[in-house]
Amino acid sequence: MSKQIKKKQTSKAAKKKKQASKKTTVKKEKAPPFNKYLYYENSVQTPEEHVNIFDRMFQELRGKLALSLREDFCGTYLISGEWVKSHPKRTSLGLDLDPEPLEYGRTHGFKKLAPSEQKRITILPQDVTIPTKRKFDVIGAGNFSFYIFKEREILKKYFKSALQSLNSDGIFVLEMAGGPGFIASGKEQKTYTVKGLGRYTYFWDQKSFDPINHHGNYAIHFRDADGVLHKNVFTYDWRVWSIPELKELMLECGFKKTVAYWEGTNRQGEGSGEYLRMEEGDNAFSWIAFVVGIK
Ligand SMILES: C[S@@+](CC[C@H](N)C(=O)[O-])C[C@H]1O[C@@H](n2cnc3c(N)ncnc32)[C@H](O)[C@@H]1O
Repeated sequence: MSKQIKKKQTSKAAKKKKQASKKTTVKKEKAPPFNKYLYYENSVQTPEEHVNIFDRMFQELRGKLALSLREDFCGTYLISGEWVKSHPKRTSLGLDLDPEPLEYGRTHGFKKLAPSEQKRITILPQDVTIPTKRKFDVIGAGNFSFYIFKEREILKKYFKSALQSLNSDGIFVLEMAGGPGFIASGKEQKTYTVKGLGRYTYFWDQKSFDPINHHGNYAIHFRDADGVLHKNVFTYDWRVWSIPELKELMLECGFKKTVAYWEGTNRQGEGSGEYLRMEEGDNAFSWIAFVVGIK
């Protein structure tokens, strides 16, 4: 799951976590030069969890193995890499508008794959709102990337294009975040120690939120392994959509059915990491959920 926003938190769990996360970076070893994608992948992404989630949802909703994935807003396309590794018949197409993360992906994650895996990944520097010729079992968008679409009409264009690009029994999976803890102003930080990189600190900065239009500004900063602070390395100007808005719009765009996958809770009141099909959720302080459109 996204490490960017922590798993579901009650307000009590959120407070405890805040107290525990006040660590500072200590320079210990010679680190490689700062690279924002390396730090982002290490701090934010858990591609194997996304693959497990897509895999399990398709099994549950369609009763068979999903083979083709379109990874929307793919960035350095880590999920595509994990997807083709997970089964010899699996293929993936990654879409992203920005050539820079695509190039980082090609020279890093992609290089670590076996030739037989590399052959099953295609990357297109393309807008996700344009339908693809190829059709897919799963179209997935991770880390709330579609929040970049602020207007309903643009989101509608995206949903219609995704529906057109799905196989007849395909599913469209959108990862969302929300709750009071996602719109409150404030910073969270976490220190990571990574082999070959050293110890660094990641900051998630919730800068502003407007309750009238639901626009929110967010940023990621890093204090690198040499102790240098890099501010606003990634910035996000989003609209924080709600689950019912998405479900209603999917139906309006022609999806037959929609389902929400909501995270279970452990005894400490924190997210269990397991997402279950739910009709009703609990009023978590901050949450991550998946909305699925079924063709
Ligand atoms: C937050 S990053 C997501 C990276 C990664 N997939 C993840 O889950 O962490 C969002 C990406 O969306 C891309 N993007 C923004 N608008 C897009 C569009 N209309 N079509 C395709 N990609 C887009 C950006 O270039 C950026 O790489």
